[in-house]
Amino acid sequence: MTHKHFIQIEGHTQEQLMGLIEKADKIITSNHYQSQQLDTLKNKTVINLFFEPSTRTRASFELAAKRLAATVLNLDIATSATKKGESFHDTISTLLAMHADVLVIRHAENNKAELVVKDFGDQVSVINAGDGTHAHPTQAMLDMLTIYQHKKSFKHLSVAIIGDVLHSRVAQSDIAALKVLGVKDIRLVGPKTLLPHEVSEQGVEIHHDLRTGLNDVDVVMMLRIQKERMQQGLIPDEKDYFAQYGLTLEKLGLAKPDAIVMHPGPMNRDLEIESAVADGKQSVILQQVRNGVAMRMAILDYICN
Ligand code: NCD
Repeated sequence: MTHKHFIQIEGHTQEQLMGLIEKADKIITSNHYQSQQLDTLKNKTVINLFFEPSTRTRASFELAAKRLAATVLNLDIATSATKKGESFHDTISTLLAMHADVLVIRHAENNKAELVVKDFGDQVSVINAGDGTHAHPTQAMLDMLTIYQHKKSFKHLSVAIIGDVLHSRVAQSDIAALKVLGVKDIRLVGPKTLLPHEVSEQGVEIHHDLRTGLNDVDVVMMLRIQKERMQQGLIPDEKDYFAQYGLTLEKLGLAKPDAIVMHPGPMNRDLEIESAVADGKQSVILQQVRNGVAMRMAILDYICN
């Protein structure tokens, strides 16, 4: 049997991504995400292997697998300097000796999930739950589902992605997914130190001014500011950052009146987003969390069946 994997958005077609979005949307509309009415993973074992702390992604994968009637094992393995190389490989082979159908992997280093596919991909399916600054494809897919539910089509959308684009695996995967789905106006907004220096791709633009970045957009995607970037001198202090790039109700007024506001969580209130926006009527942040379970159910089902 050949095993399917979900490692990054790149390489998937528009039809494949739309197929997952439609499947997940159906799971939501029939309320299957909140009960164990589907059993398409019965007799399958899913191991959630988290080498980096995570609350929502881990919980989301666990619930998704359980709601499809899988046997689920959750392992939180703190990374330490000594737990690298061989020991990573050994951890995986040990787990596979007990048999697993799907490994869901979160790791602080880039390309770890891909490495597992390379070494073990003929024995087990692998899903990337976030690797380093490289990719977070299931987050991107739940984001796409959320956009689809509000906007119905990707064709004529303008999307602003605001904050630390350079170090964000969420941003990398969101940009890739938006492009596959045909979005032609993607704006990356933030200070010079947190954005790529240039983009050669068509339809992707760099904005250092939040106001032009937000002008008339349909979707505002906020990213978490990692505080260690401040210590590294990549961002001014919190007050300055908030003044320039924090999303306030007033600035949100520059976007289209029906624009939606997204954030992958965890949020830093009053650093990248003010509470009036995070909890306001244009926010779809909790809907993203709900969609996460349904989208991961759709992806697990696609991988296993
Ligand atoms: C993100 C992550 O861990 O990549 N969170 C998440 O999965 N919902 C975003 C972040 O930590 O900034």
